[in-house]
Amino acid sequence: MISSQTINKSNLNLHCGKIEAYKRNAYGISGKTENAFFRISVVQKGIFKIHLSLTEEFDEHSYAVISKPVGIDFSILDANGHLELKTEALTLEIKKDPFTTIFKDHDGNIINEDDHALGTSWLGEQVTTYKKLQEGERFIGLGEKTGPLDRKGTGYQNWNTDHFGYPPDSDPLYCTTPFYIGIHQGLSYGIYLDNSHKTHFNFGASNRRFSSFSADQGDMAYYFIHEESIEEIISSYTDLTGRMELPPIWSLGYQQCRYSYKPDKEVLSIAKFFREKEIPADVIVLDIHHMEQYKIFTWDGKDFPNPKQMIDKLEEMGFKVVVICDPGIKIEEGYDAYDSGTKEDVFIKYPDGEYYEGEVWPGWCHFPDFTKPTVRTWWQDKLKAYTDLGILGLWNDMNEIATWGQYLPDLMEFDYEGDKASTRKARNVYGMQMARSTYEGAKQNSPNKRVFNLTRAGFSGIQRYAAVWTGDNVADDEHMLLGVRLVNSLGLAGVAFSGYDIGGFAGDADSQLFARWISIGAFAPFFRGHSMINSRDSEPWAYGEEVEEISRNYINLRYKMMPYIYSAFYKAHEKGIPVARSLAIYHPHDEKIYHSLYENQYFFGPDIMVAPVASKVNLAKVYFPEGEWYDLFDDTFYRGNQEVIVECPIERLPVFVRASAIIPMQDKLENLSQNQNDCLHLHIYGGQEENRYEYYEDDGESFNHVSGEFYKRTIEFIPEKRQLLLHAKEGDYNSQYQKIQLFFHGFEGKINGKIQVNQQTIPLEKADFNFVDQISNFDPLPENERINLKVHDLPNAIFNMDDDKIEIKW
Ligand code: NOJ
Repeated sequence: MISSQTINKSNLNLHCGKIEAYKRNAYGISGKTENAFFRISVVQKGIFKIHLSLTEEFDEHSYAVISKPVGIDFSILDANGHLELKTEALTLEIKKDPFTTIFKDHDGNIINEDDHALGTSWLGEQVTTYKKLQEGERFIGLGEKTGPLDRKGTGYQNWNTDHFGYPPDSDPLYCTTPFYIGIHQGLSYGIYLDNSHKTHFNFGASNRRFSSFSADQGDMAYYFIHEESIEEIISSYTDLTGRMELPPIWSLGYQQCRYSYKPDKEVLSIAKFFREKEIPADVIVLDIHHMEQYKIFTWDGKDFPNPKQMIDKLEEMGFKVVVICDPGIKIEEGYDAYDSGTKEDVFIKYPDGEYYEGEVWPGWCHFPDFTKPTVRTWWQDKLKAYTDLGILGLWNDMNEIATWGQYLPDLMEFDYEGDKASTRKARNVYGMQMARSTYEGAKQNSPNKRVFNLTRAGFSGIQRYAAVWTGDNVADDEHMLLGVRLVNSLGLAGVAFSGYDIGGFAGDADSQLFARWISIGAFAPFFRGHSMINSRDSEPWAYGEEVEEISRNYINLRYKMMPYIYSAFYKAHEKGIPVARSLAIYHPHDEKIYHSLYENQYFFGPDIMVAPVASKVNLAKVYFPEGEWYDLFDDTFYRGNQEVIVECPIERLPVFVRASAIIPMQDKLENLSQNQNDCLHLHIYGGQEENRYEYYEDDGESFNHVSGEFYKRTIEFIPEKRQLLLHAKEGDYNSQYQKIQLFFHGFEGKINGKIQVNQQTIPLEKADFNFVDQISNFDPLPENERINLKVHDLPNAIFNMDDDKIEIKW
């Protein structure tokens, strides 16, 4: 029998020991064990917070968690040596001797339990909670982490790190999100470790006894989440840590970046090339060479003598500008940011009060302490250098903090919202606080305009302030596929808006690699081509005609899909559901999806399944999970639960659509700010399951949607009734589309005789049938061919976006 006496026989490892006293409070219980203090809070019916501290002073501050317990009904039972806290969804059993936890679902199944002997314990300052490995347990998530989808057998640490050209198995990288999801025997849960120090996760690495999570210092504070589905777990996690605001729609288009485009003439000629070549694009990104000697908030007078003029010209062409923002402020008297920063005392200090100096692009620099509210206000004021020019796109880089030499001294002091902390506690949140300062500052400087903000470093909750990209990847196949996994994993950790450098940042892509990468990138939440200084040209036209054509087709496809993509972003904003969704979100208990052959597959939005493949393969194995599927490009039908070899020549990425899906699309367009389309295309895929899809639209640039200016419609496909129902619209926004066209896929022989729109019958002989067996290899969605039934040519079959309720029967 294990008791606290047995546990504490080690004089190295200090176990929290047995419970000596406890009391109930409004949100749970608090008490004392032999060696520690604890607080347990019922945050929501499926979320409990476990908080252990060596002293009575609990550290309750969190940059990540923004929600508080709301006062959920729970019961407490004290019997047979244990305590039980219970809500309608979750039971927490706490063994008193020693203090250990067991979480059970409402049927009494064990979801997760401490290793009974190891529980929560301290090794010096480092605190760890050990969890018994459950049978068949898998682990997914943890955000921007290399390695497989199922992290069983691996270990990771969180310590935001700049790693140029990181090897595909390197750890840690730039962004920390200590949240993972455990899956076993039909059950699933999430654990978020709310501690910003260096943290460590062990998912049964080098042992088969436990999984564990540790922090080098500070309290053990973690949230345990249980919900029925992975989607709901992510949604609960983003209840805690917040969700993204809706992005400006232009930021979802193609962004062209390079380290660096200069002078201004080159920037303009790149923009012109896109238009001349009819390749849609929305953004040109300015990297560090737009500045004078890399000094942030300045412009290089020779290369960019008149930035306003350049920005206005780009705007006329339908391009927005995104500029890079580095935290390092050059130590140089007479440079405004340095002078005012010194005057207002904004920089990070050593304990003796001297400013820290680190070397980065501009030379020796000081760094603003973004954990101090007044510094964030100072930064907002400085940002006017950009926002006054109408710039609404900002890119936070080097914010780990990256300095030459990498070893940021541990002893530096950060304000940490008035509760001073050293680098050990502040490093992981620094990037997030910089991104926050940039986002909030730029937003306040640009009233009622949405801002696009991108960051490299971040911490849990970063989704509230910025999109994340995966830093300095390398131009090879392994990195291309790793990028997909990183993005999917970021999505599992609440970061819905993320992407990778298309074409690879370091090194030179060959034409096939670039072609494949841009095809996959068209299905990434953040879609940007970027490459490093002294590498080859890497724009869509830089790899020859064939690649140019492939790039154009996939970028066109992304723009056509924008109504679907934007609706998926709305779900990220509303519920935290990622845009790129690992198959594990919908098929967590299907072991096939974790196989190395299929672990990169993902859903883009709810119903499109992408199977990323390497650049030089013409055939690839795809796994079709349960359900029925159609090829996006030629409607080939596949049953689920099978592995199929599909063709994937370089112009053809394997992409599939779930049966019964409803995919809103539009005609192609040049840029998203000047969208002239007036017809929404609704693609309906035949299937046996009912489907409810939520379509969302608004002006894509302001915050008017917050006060009701949006257009939302639930669209229901009821196969049994041979019916498509567009429920009454919600919101006050008038759709930009005037009419809807319907495209039926997989309905051959199923539409007999007539089609009815709002009781009005349209004889079938008047409908325009056009079944297709094959499409050209090039255009992913040829304009006219792949439509099985088109009703738009019939005079009365065009119905309006604003019609109240639309019923279509066949
Ligand atoms: C590092 C970033 O990761 C990269 O994308 C950028 O081009 C360089 N810094 C230069 O600013």
